Amino acid sequence: MTPAMQSLVAFGAGKVILLGEHSVVYGYPAIAGPLTIGVVARGVASRSCVLDVPVTADAAQKRMMRKAFARAAKLVGEPKVKVTLEPQLPLSAGLGSSAALAVATSRVLLQAAGQAPTAKATARLAWEMEQEFHGTPSGVDHTTSAEEKLILYRRVQAPAGVTGRARELKSPRPVSVVVALAGARSPTKLTVGALRERQARWPERYKRLFGQVGRLVADAAKAVETGDLEGLGDAMNVNQGLLNALGLSSPALEDMVFRLRSLGALGAKFTGAGGDGGAVIGLFPEPEPVVAQLTRDGVRCFASQLAGPRVQGDIP
Ligand code: MEV
Repeated sequence: MTPAMQSLVAFGAGKVILLGEHSVVYGYPAIAGPLTIGVVARGVASRSCVLDVPVTADAAQKRMMRKAFARAAKLVGEPKVKVTLEPQLPLSAGLGSSAALAVATSRVLLQAAGQAPTAKATARLAWEMEQEFHGTPSGVDHTTSAEEKLILYRRVQAPAGVTGRARELKSPRPVSVVVALAGARSPTKLTVGALRERQARWPERYKRLFGQVGRLVADAAKAVETGDLEGLGDAMNVNQGLLNALGLSSPALEDMVFRLRSLGALGAKFTGAGGDGGAVIGLFPEPEPVVAQLTRDGVRCFASQLAGPRVQGDIP
């Protein structure tokens, strides 16, 4: 760490996947956008390159964070910096907390090593950390966090370091979601691993389902770009049906999906890994009254605008 950089602060955004989680691991496209909440990383000069893990993390999470940090630190020459993490997101809730952590940490490490924390350099280093967290990630989480835009993403088999291609999706209308937490979260590694076993056993059946999701994503990307929120919502609803068919949903997630639809969501689905619980998103032209209602009912939730002319920030 150079003397000019006595104290460094960097942010990594959380994310929601609008459509296409899981099938994105197999090379099909997905749409994902950044949250305005995420993880803040702070770096101060230190005698060694060290990570101060968040107190809210459990023992397994702390172990993984240290391993991921060591891998990234080594790649930038272990600059003498102590990195402290402040998560603003619930950890392991399907909102990209590990990617946000990887991006924030990578930005601090790069700066401490005297390198520019460009979106590309950040994504490359964060990708190394993500592999420790997830095993075989598609790269959509950390790419969304590093780019901080609503993107159409596709994983590509490419030279080391490049994990996927991303194109920004712009919308003439605000694309806003309510994010609600439901049930007890399943680790991403578990849901991804269980699906991998099923698809290896019945490859043709699962290929057909992934292909259907891929088509929905293409339709949804057009809907975003033309401001067709009703069309986007319908694609999200059908995507939820296919996620259920892929064996990735649960009663807690389905209940929340139907609850959001009963509150007027144009489309609702779980986002991220799925399993026993996690995060559910509903597309709402006016999310604030829905957040107020759900909060009164004791649901942990917030609103986030993912694209379009800016009308609001996140509601914590
Ligand atoms: C997790 O946020 C998204 C998954 O598709 C896994 C991945 O893309 O690596 C379930």
